Formats: sequence, structure tokens, C-alpha cells
Amino acid sequence: MEYINIAYVISAICFIFGIKMLSHPKTARNGNSLASIGMLIAIVSTLYGGEVLNFKLIGIGVLIGSIIGGIVANKIEMTQMPQMVAIFNGLGGGASALIASAEFYTQYQNNLSTFMLVTIILSVVIGTLTLTGSFIAFGKLQGFVSGKPITFPGQQLINGLMVISIGVMGTYIVNTPTEINFFYGILIIAGIIGVTLTIPIGGADMPVVISLLNSYSGVAAAATGFVLMNNALIISGALVGASGLILTQIMCKGMNRSLANVIFGAVGGDTAIASGGQAQELNIKSYSTEEAAMIFDAAEKVIVVPGYGLAVAQAQHAVREVAEWLEAQGKQVLYAIHPVAGRMPGHMNVLLAEANIPYELLKDLDEINPEFEDCDVALILGANDVVNPAARHDTSSPIYGMPILNVDKARTVIVNKRSMNPGFAGIQNELFGFDNTIMVFGDAKDMLGKLMSDLKEL
Ligand code: TAP
Repeated sequence: MEYINIAYVISAICFIFGIKMLSHPKTARNGNSLASIGMLIAIVSTLYGGEVLNFKLIGIGVLIGSIIGGIVANKIEMTQMPQMVAIFNGLGGGASALIASAEFYTQYQNNLSTFMLVTIILSVVIGTLTLTGSFIAFGKLQGFVSGKPITFPGQQLINGLMVISIGVMGTYIVNTPTEINFFYGILIIAGIIGVTLTIPIGGADMPVVISLLNSYSGVAAAATGFVLMNNALIISGALVGASGLILTQIMCKGMNRSLANVIFGAVGGDTAIASGGQAQELNIKSYSTEEAAMIFDAAEKVIVVPGYGLAVAQAQHAVREVAEWLEAQGKQVLYAIHPVAGRMPGHMNVLLAEANIPYELLKDLDEINPEFEDCDVALILGANDVVNPAARHDTSSPIYGMPILNVDKARTVIVNKRSMNPGFAGIQNELFGFDNTIMVFGDAKDMLGKLMSDLKEL
């Protein structure tokens, strides 16, 4: 037993240093490997921890899980990563609920202690709502559940009643564990709560919800750790719970919204689209890549603003080539990274790091905003909401208050996107009609390819 706990401490150290190393792109890959080694140590020491286990069954489970996980992780597009995380969270929560349920089912006639029963109920409730909530979040992102907030009268009251009924049934079980029907009742209601809490949240807020559910899955795992009295599970569950919550806060701050507003605000419905000025007529100027190339030729300082569209187009290598060419002509090129550009935290950093763009050139919001004032060209590649000036002044806009990149302060703003379609928040962007803005329509990768050859021909 002592050896197992020493092994668990070693794996906890690997997890903590692994997370620390994830905070910088240079060390992130090694950090991920270190945390994986920690998990391997935890799993092996648990399996050989002296308990009699059915290794054949465990082996089959590991094999099936590894094959499915391996195939999915390899096939998934970078832009679908939030969906994959949603599924992983859901399955993590579901696994915790299943383990706690199994413990209850096999032991409920054996005078389980109050502590044990409370932790079982916590694990089952949080794990089950994480499972169903994550699948709704997955559906909203994938498109088979409506991305609009689904609300109905009395929704919060019904949610409240369901929470109270879980509390009542839970108390009943703690006093009389043999009343197994109440246990099933808790399972079903927790599953429904996961759905009813997630459907009123708009698709645009799903990454925040996924991060929150990630935190829940950690709490469920930690509760299961108490059920099994397994220190590794308690530590890793607590780490996931805390880091998920921190990530949720970072995202809310990046959008200048409170967590309560994300969960209960039903942002992203018809009102959001209407209030964003969809009907507003914009006087846009559409330029060719040749014309844009001439503007770049005359520029000295260029700031690239990557957004979700860059990820969709997989244009990170193309942008590096253009930037390197401009730098070779003696121009300065910087990259402006908005905290919620793309669809997940760090999305743009990962993308640009993949194309070997030097990390020192990536500037975050506070650092880059003053730079736009003396910048000749701000090149917006598939970004929309994060450069929408309405966030600064239009109190009726759903993104009002969100800190944005002040691209409109640049001498010329070149916006690349495929059409006049809105971004994730579903609202029109007045920037596209500004006097100093020109639009160069097309897929980001194609556009940059053409721009590159036009630049070379100058
Ligand atoms: P968006 O506002 O979603 O805009 C992306 C733009 O890319 C769209 O207007 C789209 O226009 C364009 N696009 C799509 N495919 C393209 C392609 N192949 N080539 C060129 N352009 C393409 O993106 P953003 O500015 O990065 O903002 C992110 C949004 O996600 C914000 O609303 C943010 O609040 C939300 N969000 C993000 C996070 C995190 S953590 N990143 C979390 C929660 C919410 P076309 O269709 O016309 O091409």
C-alpha cells in the first residue's frame, strides 16, 4: 500500500509539472508527455496494487477504448477539437457515475457509511449531468442540436425543482440505503438536468460550457476517488476540476461576461442577431489580391490578426510564407492574438506554432492594441467578432463589453473572409464598411497563395 501511494505522489508530480509546462508552446509537447507518463504510472500501480482484478476484462476494455480513442484523435480536424473534448468530458463523467453506481449496487445492503453514501451520490449526480450535458454541447457544435438557445417558460423553476428533488431523494438514501428506487430516480433526474442546463445556452458559448463541464468531470472523478479511497483519482480529479474552472474564468474574462450570464443569459438567439444590426447597409470595398499586394508593398508595419477562418482554411503555413517574404523586404510583421479568437483557448497560438512562426512575434491583446496606431496594414484573416468595434460602443450588441483588437486604428485594414456571413456571435460587423477597410474575399489559404505570387511579381 505504501508503494502505491509513493507511485501516486510521483504521478501527481508529473501531472502538476505537466500542466505547468503546457503554459508555453516550447515546453507544451513535453508537458503533455510528462502528464501521460504520470497517468501510466497511476494506472500500472493501481492494477498491481494487490487487489484481485479481472485482468482479461480490463484488457478488453483498454483495447477497445484505445482503438476508438486512437482512430478518433487521428481523424479529428483541429477545428473540431472542442467537440472531441466535449465527448471526452462526457465519457469521463459517465465513467465516474458508473463506478460510483457499481459501488452502490454491490454494497448498498452492507451498511455503507454516510460519508460513502454522500460521495457516491455526488459522483453519480455530477457525473451523469456531465455526461448528458456534454452530449448536448457536442450536438450543438456538430449541428444536430440547434445552436440557438432553447428556452421555455418556467425553465429555471423546473431546474430548481429537480435539484430540490435530488436533494430530498439523496437525503432519503443516506438514511435508508436499501431504497434503491430513489437511487434510480437520482440517476434519471441528474441526466435530465444535464440536458435542461445546456439547451438554453447558445452555440457561441459552447466552448465555455465545455470547459465548465470539464471541470465537473474532474469533480465527479474526485468524488469517485473518495468512494474508492484512491488517492490518485482524488488528486487528478481535483486538478481537472480546478484547471477547468480557471479556463472557464479566462474565457469569460476574454468575452467580458460573467459565468452566470453565459449559463442563464440565453445569448445567441434571435434577439442577438437582430440587435447586432443585421439590417444595417454596409458600403464595402472589394479588392483583388493584386491591389492588396500594392498596399503591402508600400507598408512598413503589418499586423496579422488570425481568427477562426484561418483555422478552417488551414492557412497557417501560407501566412508564414507571406510574412517571411514581407520581412525579407525589410517590413515588420507582428501577430495579434485575441484570447477567444477561434473556438478554444490557445487555438491561434497552437495553429501558428504549428507553422513555426516565432513565438516572440505573437502578441496578446493588451500588448498589441497600442501597436495598431502606427501600423500601416492590419491583415484580418478569418476573424470577425474579435475585431468588431460594436463591442466598444453598441450597448445593444451581444458582444458589447468584449475587449477587442483595435484594428480600425490601423491606416488600412484588409479583411479576408469568404462572404459577408457573420461570425460565431451571428452579428454583422460595421468594420467592413469603414473608410479605411477593404475586403479581399476568398478562402484564406487560396487568397494568401495568390497574394504571395502577386507580391513576387511586383
Ligand atoms: P468568428 O467571429 O467566428 O469569425 C470567423 C470568420 O471566419 C467568419 O466570419 C467566416 O466568414 C470566416 N471564415 C470561415 N471560413 C473561412 C475560410 N476558409 N477562409 C477565410 N475566412 C473564413 O471568429 P473569431 O473572430 O475568431 O471569433 C471567435 C468567436 O468564437 C467569438 O465570438 C468568441 O466569443 C467565440 N468563442 C471563442 C472561444 C474561444 S476560447 N476561442 C470560446 C467561446 C466563444 P465567411 O463565412 O464569410 O468566410
